[in-house]
Amino acid sequence: MATYDLVVIGTGPGGYVCAVRAAQLGMKVAVVEKDATLGGTCLNVGCMPSKALLHASEMFEEAAHSFAKMGVSVSAPKLELPAMMNFKQQGIDGNVKGVEFLMKKNKIDVLKGTGKILGTGKVEVSADGKSQVVETKNIVIATGSDIARLKGIEIDEKRIVSSTGALSLDKVPGKLLIVGAGVIGLELGSVWKRLGAEVVVVEFLDRILPGMDGEIAKQFQRILEKQGFAFKLGAKVTAVDTSGKSLKATIEPAAGGAAETLEADVVLVCIGRVPYTDGLGLKEAGVALDNRGRVQIDPHFATSVKGVYAIGDVVAGPMLAHKAEDEGVAVAEIIAGQAGHVNYDVIPGVVYTTPEVSSVGKTEEELKQAGQAYTVGKFPFTANGRSKVNQTTDGFVKILADAKTDRVLGVHIIGREAGEMIHEACVLMEFGGSAEDLARTCHAHPTRSEAIKEAALAVGKRAIHM
Ligand code: FAD
Ligand code: NAI
Repeated sequence: MATYDLVVIGTGPGGYVCAVRAAQLGMKVAVVEKDATLGGTCLNVGCMPSKALLHASEMFEEAAHSFAKMGVSVSAPKLELPAMMNFKQQGIDGNVKGVEFLMKKNKIDVLKGTGKILGTGKVEVSADGKSQVVETKNIVIATGSDIARLKGIEIDEKRIVSSTGALSLDKVPGKLLIVGAGVIGLELGSVWKRLGAEVVVVEFLDRILPGMDGEIAKQFQRILEKQGFAFKLGAKVTAVDTSGKSLKATIEPAAGGAAETLEADVVLVCIGRVPYTDGLGLKEAGVALDNRGRVQIDPHFATSVKGVYAIGDVVAGPMLAHKAEDEGVAVAEIIAGQAGHVNYDVIPGVVYTTPEVSSVGKTEEELKQAGQAYTVGKFPFTANGRSKVNQTTDGFVKILADAKTDRVLGVHIIGREAGEMIHEACVLMEFGGSAEDLARTCHAHPTRSEAIKEAALAVGKRAIHM
């Protein structure tokens, strides 16, 4: 029987990063993966394929609508969807191979099959009707999440799709109805909108992107509407009739009232994700779940069973790849006797649309609710030189700082490349920095990041270019 210091179940960004860090710390490590390829949701049906399609569809859109105004004359771009899907697949394959390489480089055994925890120190791995039991000092559950389903609406991944089906449609739908104005709805809605679909988004709440700063979300909605998105807020899809050539969705106001019917070629259900624990044997092993089906952990990622830890989408917190990765590193260090730690106050979130939306720390709504006194500094990209010459001036930077100490509590950006720009705010906040620190840091000219410096200056009411 093989014995290990650590067996990690699941090879998403949480699991494989945890395995690499543990191997770096001298542990003998194995990973268990039930799917054909390594990399989990993120590499196979999440972050990576969605970003490949967002990039390719943005280039398509730019060629169609932005090149001419810069004096670049091209004939109208023609969509070759199979080639675009091939581009996406190449990106997936390249990253999956990268993870395989990392497993080899770090001498991590890859055990293909479904992992089941038999109790402290024992994992059963089953594949193709055969099973083996491995012994290990420690186990990390990194089994991720699965799509949340809508009662009574069956996902066939052809006409009624989850994000997985929406990443592989074989033709551009004439009408795409999206249920849920969260990250997936707005990212994948952008992809298919750019490629020619008419997009309607039905959202239960009275706003898009719950959890993001309200002012940013409002401006984002206006920009998306200008791009052609239609939103039905405060509404829910209660049924989809699949009997005809086109789908007929029943939409009811969330507050109650008369229903309406909307026709669509494809319905994308993206109303969140749920922790994935099927087949893990948690109940029998005595691993406790919380009231939302997530594996319950203490501040050191330990579950209710000795020597069993959990990280990533399967535990509480934002369902983000980088959060899973950082937890993977932290738990490996804790198991090795070090002081692994994740700062949950400084986890950035990015929506990879055009423009992008990025955010770290507290929103204005959260500060108000906590009764925290704060100052606000804002700076629009219309006043940023680089954005002006590139004619990409949508959006603004918003900085929230403690009214007394000037410590930065939250930074929110809507604009091109906002996802890259947020990290100077993350570093600043990690070090407990102030708006004044940011305002006095020399920023290269001409860059879009100068808008962050100006927003920091605006906290002290002394922005230069506004
Ligand atoms: P996962 O990546 O879900 O990996 C879990 C792995 O465990 C899977 O490979 C699964 O097969 C395996 N597994 C499960 N049970 C068992 C078992 N019993 N035995 C063996 N193996 C098992 N996040 C971002 O930060 N940025 C993005 O841009 C982004 N885009 C996304 C786009 C989409 C369309 C989706 C759906 C998600 C996106 N996410 C994004 C979220 C991100 O994918 C997840 O937060 C991340 O993958 C979670 O990592 P994880 O390691 O916890 O789990
Ligand atoms: P989400 O939680 O971001 O958004 C779901 C939306 O659906 C919410 O606005 C919610 O109010 C709405 N909703 C819920 N039930 C509804 C109903 N019955 N009718 C209408 N609307 C309803 O979830 P989403 O978009 O499915 O994404 C899942 C997770 O994947 C995200 O939470 C995020 O953590 C991760 N992700 C991250 C990305 C990124 O970082 N760029 C990209 C894509 C996904």
